Amino acid sequence: MDLPVTFWILLINLLVFWVSAVQAAKCPQECFCDQIQLNVTCANKNLTQVPPNVDERTVKLDLQGNDIQELPTGAFMHTPYLTHLSLQRCNIHKVKEAAFRGLGRLVFLNLSNNNIDILYQEAFDGLSSLKQLIIDRNRVKEIQPGAFSQLGSLNLLSLSHNQLVYIPNMAFQGLQNIKKLRLSNNCLIYLDTEAFAGLFTLTRLSLDHNELQVIIIVLIPALFFSASRLPEVTRLDLSYNPMTYLGEEAVSMPKLTHLFLDHMSLQDLVNTAVSKSPNLIHLDISNNQLRVIQPFAEGSPKLSRLNLAGNPILCNRCLEWAFYNKVKLVGTCGGPSHLSGERLNAVHPPKLRCQSEEEEAAGIIPRPTEELNKVKCPAHCVCEAETHHSSCENRGHTKVPRGFSASTRLLDLRGNNFHYIPSNSFPGVTQVVSLHLQRCKIVDVEGGAFNGMKGLIYLYLSENELTSLSPDAFKGLPKLTYLHLEKNRFTSFPKGVFKLVPSLLALHLENNSITKLEPGIMTGAEGLRALYLTGNAIVHVSPRALYQANDLDMLHLGGNKLKEVPTEALSKAGNLRDLRLSRNSIRWIGSNAFKPLGRSLKELYLNNMGLEKVSGALAGLGPGLRSLFLEGNQLEEVPDFHPLTALEVINLADNPLMCDCPLLPLCIWMEKVNLKVRATCANPPELRGRRVKDVHGFKACPGGESLPSAPAVTSQPAKAPKATKPKPIDLNGHQQVKILRLELSECSELLLYL
Ligand SMILES: *[C@@H]1O[C@H](CO)[C@@H](O)[C@H](O)[C@H]1NC(C)=O
Ligand SMILES: *[C@@H]1O[C@H](CO)[C@@H](O)[C@H](O)[C@H]1NC(C)=O
Ligand SMILES: *[C@@H]1O[C@H](CO)[C@@H](O)[C@H](O)[C@H]1NC(C)=O
Ligand SMILES: *[C@@H]1O[C@H](CO)[C@@H](O)[C@H](O)[C@H]1NC(C)=O
Repeated sequence: MDLPVTFWILLINLLVFWVSAVQAAKCPQECFCDQIQLNVTCANKNLTQVPPNVDERTVKLDLQGNDIQELPTGAFMHTPYLTHLSLQRCNIHKVKEAAFRGLGRLVFLNLSNNNIDILYQEAFDGLSSLKQLIIDRNRVKEIQPGAFSQLGSLNLLSLSHNQLVYIPNMAFQGLQNIKKLRLSNNCLIYLDTEAFAGLFTLTRLSLDHNELQVIIIVLIPALFFSASRLPEVTRLDLSYNPMTYLGEEAVSMPKLTHLFLDHMSLQDLVNTAVSKSPNLIHLDISNNQLRVIQPFAEGSPKLSRLNLAGNPILCNRCLEWAFYNKVKLVGTCGGPSHLSGERLNAVHPPKLRCQSEEEEAAGIIPRPTEELNKVKCPAHCVCEAETHHSSCENRGHTKVPRGFSASTRLLDLRGNNFHYIPSNSFPGVTQVVSLHLQRCKIVDVEGGAFNGMKGLIYLYLSENELTSLSPDAFKGLPKLTYLHLEKNRFTSFPKGVFKLVPSLLALHLENNSITKLEPGIMTGAEGLRALYLTGNAIVHVSPRALYQANDLDMLHLGGNKLKEVPTEALSKAGNLRDLRLSRNSIRWIGSNAFKPLGRSLKELYLNNMGLEKVSGALAGLGPGLRSLFLEGNQLEEVPDFHPLTALEVINLADNPLMCDCPLLPLCIWMEKVNLKVRATCANPPELRGRRVKDVHGFKACPGGESLPSAPAVTSQPAKAPKATKPKPIDLNGHQQVKILRLELSECSELLLYL
């Protein structure tokens, strides 16, 4: 049958019309759908849920400006091809776990300007291709462990303008390709030592406009901003934090080129602060309180620009190094008077000798800051209007000074001789966030001592002589979050004093002399997340000690006198994530010792305790465990690590391991996790120096058949290890020889430390 061409054209047109009509029917009525670009726009429509009838093939979905409130699990299951999703300004306050499940192609997600307060553990699961995640301008105050663990492709994570107060350990774990991390404009006061662990690819980190103080950096070991944590970072922004001091090698990052430390409260910058950042080009320390810049230690060979504007810099010979090293200085002289106001780069070379800060303070030249900032301040104290810091450190005060400005935020009274703190010792300073009372010889804190300090978050009472505390010692501190009582003389846990501090999250009691943990020590402190008891003399933990410790996340019991794992007590702390038992004298750990924590435990420290046997100990610890520390023990064999499928860090150093058939499960495991592990045998003697993976004799052990065969060419044929355990050899008394060395090589998933 011959049909005219026009018929076919008509038919095709009809078909096209029909197809597009069907597609148009799939466009939700509130939305605009672009069938060619496959994008759907439903912006500003007061929608209360994700429209269920969006075309399945949609690639871009714009839902901004709606009223969605809560994103349920699997909210986007019906649009699996999405690459871009806009959800800003949607009044979202909760993102339920796996809300984005099914969006394996999504690359861009904007959740800005919502009301999200908690990032739940599995909130972003399924977003395996996501490159940019924007959560700016929400109310995020908590990042749950593992929140980002599935975002292996993410390049940019932006969490600016939120309410984060602290960043817990391993918060960003799983971000294997992260380049930029923005945490600007939060309320960060505290970063856990491992807060940025695992960010091996990060190049830019923004922490500006937070509340990070000098003390925090000092408490945190130098390695905090260091190579081992952030090896690739080139730009670090710490500006607008109230830090007063930067210590030796405080910023040690091998690739860092740009460092921003402006608008802080720096009074002192030791000349080695950046000496371990050899690639630094640009350093901005403008708008601080620095008077003298000591010659930077060699170690900053590439520094070409140093911004000192807004500092009362003394123009003297201390600056010569900069001229000779051709470092461009920005800013003007703050003194001496005849040079005041001159551009730093123009006063070349300054004639005055390089004067240390002490000489200057001794009165040769008046300190400009004290003249500039007139603010209410007691005698023998220094108070700064701009930073709201008041300090009377080491000034021999015997009574708590009074008369600080009402706007004081940091009050530093450490190193005085108060002996005791009577009630109402701090009138009129309701805005103090951080109170330092370390090393004040305090034996007693009277009830209501801190009355009225409504804003206090940090209280440092460390290094005093406290043996007990009155039940209402902490009355009137509704926001107290971090309490430091380490290095005092407590012989028992100060039970019952925490009823009045509902916000307490972290309690430091390290280096006291507490001998036991009695039932109910946590009463009143049910919200506690971190309990630090390292370095006490604890022999016994009552099975009911941790009753009500439901929120406890971190328990440090290292350096005590425990003889066994307090399994029963731990069973009451079912959300424990980080448990440290290092340096107790626990010789062996029975089966199922950690079973009650199987679901929650992520980090387990069992190092340096003379451990001889752990056989069934790890039973029940499955895919949750990320780090396991077993170094410095007496282990000749290791337990089966197979169930620990999520392990990222394991430390087996300094154990007298036998390179023998009982080690077979370790070999099989290493093979299975596809690691290039170099493991060197030292025992039995004939295998000394041999890498374990080259000991093909393990194949001969019962069960070793699954190991791969020896390569065709081996330099020396390996002997099979004996199937029976050889006697420990005595090398002139050095019985415990380290015989197995496991080393990391080109391994991305699992680190074997030695
Ligand atoms: C949707 O497609 C149009 C062009 O057809 C484009 O102008 C618009 O920006 C696209 N929307 C999104 C959200 O990409
Ligand atoms: C959304 O709701 C607001 C307030 O109820 C109303 O003023 C506005 O017109 C609504 N917008 C749309 C697109 O329906
Ligand atoms: C995300 O949304 C916010 C608020 O609507 C907007 O200002 C911002 O530019 C968006 N971010 C990106 C990367 O598009
Ligand atoms: C406890 O004492 C040990 C040994 O003196 C010290 O290394 C550690 O830093 C102290 N810890 C605290 C929190 O004071």
